[in-house]
Order: sequence, then structure tokens, then C-alpha cells
Amino acid sequence: MFDIDPDALDGVLRAHFSAHRYEHTQGTLELAFELGDRFGEDPQKVTLAALLHDYCKIEGSGEENNLLHGGMAADIMEREFGITDADILNAVRYHTTGRRGMSRLEMILFLADTLEPGRTYADVDRLREIALRDLYAGTYETLRSLEIYLDREGFLMTPDSIEALAWLEEMIMEE
Ligand SMILES: [Fe+2]
Ligand SMILES: [Fe+2]
Repeated sequence: MFDIDPDALDGVLRAHFSAHRYEHTQGTLELAFELGDRFGEDPQKVTLAALLHDYCKIEGSGEENNLLHGGMAADIMEREFGITDADILNAVRYHTTGRRGMSRLEMILFLADTLEPGRTYADVDRLREIALRDLYAGTYETLRSLEIYLDREGFLMTPDSIEALAWLEEMIMEE
């Protein structure tokens, strides 16, 4: 399906990322793997999405790069890395916001990015535990915690995140 050599890609990423971003990427890969294993996702898709999700993240930059770096990375993955799988590209594109109708891979990357072992904020252990039990509940609770954080900092949630929360509420009610 993909002909990207993992060792060559690791070399590219070591050269491309700061030490901090490389560590975060490895942590994201680790948790994404655990979630992928638990919920039956293709490990190759999990790997590519996790390794490249922050390819366009600029350290210490403001809100704009924060909101745009997922979409920028998805574009580069398609153009420069030749990755055409829509699910991988969507997972990267929406990894900071989520969206209505997120796929299993999209939820896995969103959760792994937010809850990876290098994250240390107050609620992270509880959220990780929920995520490893139930993808939908984990994504819902993690987005809720993001909403509370943004509200406290004086930021608004993006429309995609608001829609993701509404959708997850519907999904959880149906269970
Ligand atoms: Fe990111
Ligand atoms: Fe990230």
C-alpha cells in the first residue's frame, strides 16, 4: 500500500523536527499504536498519520499556525510524500479540531496527539484511561476538556470542534 521506508522517514524527521517536536511525535506514535491495536486500526496508517501530523507545526508560533498546521501537513503529505489515502490525510488535517463524523483513525490520532505520554496537564491520565476503553467517549471527554481550557484562556472553539462534540453526543446517546 505504501512504499515509504520507515528508516529513511525517521532520518527525515530527525533532521526536520526540534528535539521537543521529535519527542512529541514519538509519544504520539506510541499512544496511537496502543489505541490502533486496541480498536483494530491498520498499523501502517497509524504510523504515517502519527509521524507526519505535526510536520508543519512551527514552534512557539501563534494561534494561526496552531489552526492551520494540520491542513498544511496533509497537503505536503500528498504532494511531497505521495500519500493519497484519504483517511490518513483527514486524520492529519483534523488532528487539532476533530470534526463531525470523524473516522476511527481520526479519533485515534486526535487522542494520541492530545494524550501522549509527554503531556502532563491535570486531566490527562483520566482521559487516557477513558480513551483506551472507548474511542467515542474518550474523544468526547477530551474535546470537552479542550473546550473548558479554551474558554478559560479566552479562546473560542472552532466550528469543526463544536460539530464534533455535537456529533459525539449523538453517537454516545445511541450506544
Ligand atoms: Fe499538531
Ligand atoms: Fe502534535
